[in-house]
Amino acid sequence: MPFPIHRPRRLRRTEALRGFVRETRLSVRSLIYPLFVCPGSNVQDEIKSMPGNYRWSIDRLVEECKAIAGLGVPAVILFGIPESKDDVGSGAYAANGIVQRAVRALKRPLPDLIVICDVCLDEYTGHGHCGLIRNGEVDNDGTLPLLARTARTQVEAGADIVAPSDMMDGRVAAIRRELDEHGFAATPILAYAAKYASAFYGPFREAADSAPKFGDRKSYQMDPANQREARREIALDIEEGADIIMVKPALPYLDIIALARREFDVPVAAYQVSGEFSQIEAAARLGWIDRERTILETLTSIQRAGADIILTYYAKEVARLLG
Ligand code: PBG
Repeated sequence: MPFPIHRPRRLRRTEALRGFVRETRLSVRSLIYPLFVCPGSNVQDEIKSMPGNYRWSIDRLVEECKAIAGLGVPAVILFGIPESKDDVGSGAYAANGIVQRAVRALKRPLPDLIVICDVCLDEYTGHGHCGLIRNGEVDNDGTLPLLARTARTQVEAGADIVAPSDMMDGRVAAIRRELDEHGFAATPILAYAAKYASAFYGPFREAADSAPKFGDRKSYQMDPANQREARREIALDIEEGADIIMVKPALPYLDIIALARREFDVPVAAYQVSGEFSQIEAAARLGWIDRERTILETLTSIQRAGADIILTYYAKEVARLLG
């Protein structure tokens, strides 16, 4: 008997063989590109901690989205930076809010681009929390109607999907009811179902100027130490009517993505968040890692773990890399 019989290296010998037996194939068709929209015109303001990402005014956002769609990226998710903030986050649900106006401007020239709106108050509240504050705490039930109104005004403006990221209990049900009552039963909800209280959101909070002014988000976002709780959160969101569920962040939470894929039959999305992006950019600038290989390896790993859909600041880059 020759030794060894089993030689896994046989199928790794050439790129043709490796490509032939490859289990995971990254595709731009399942990526969502996050974008920040701000007031003004002709604004393209680079976010310092997220090189290559910008706050776009609506006119420039439309041009950027034409380029993105041209590269084959099917979807964008919008985050708004309002003119002004207040205690109740009015800018989030104003019929003429920054995101609502952006959606109207985008859908006219780009009817086939999937426009997703993040549903949350934190970019619009002066205190920076994702809900109303009552007696020094984030008021869950008082926040629900405002989230529902935010989602409804976004859909009225033309949003294809709404994505609640606030982590209030019961918000998926509240949004589903509001949309159904206003004739939008066909609009899907992508729920940030297992969203952790993560240090990896740092650069995003600079981008959106949305860091909480007091306390932190630990009373509503999940404890990074918990896995079983993610199953419960995901199950609740699906029960309430979520069509797609999301795990966030992505790379530090591959076990949660795998669990979501294994135990639930809805599409699973994962968000490679700002800190995951900026870490790669920083190390690449220092010459410590190969940027392009790291981008493709992290995204492949997120897909391999079970994500059907990935939100990534590299969506445009991947479209170019996969050509
Ligand atoms: C909340 C929201 C956040 C992100 C997406 N939606 C920030 C937070 O919870 O503090 C973070 C995304 C990222 O870091 O890329 N509206």
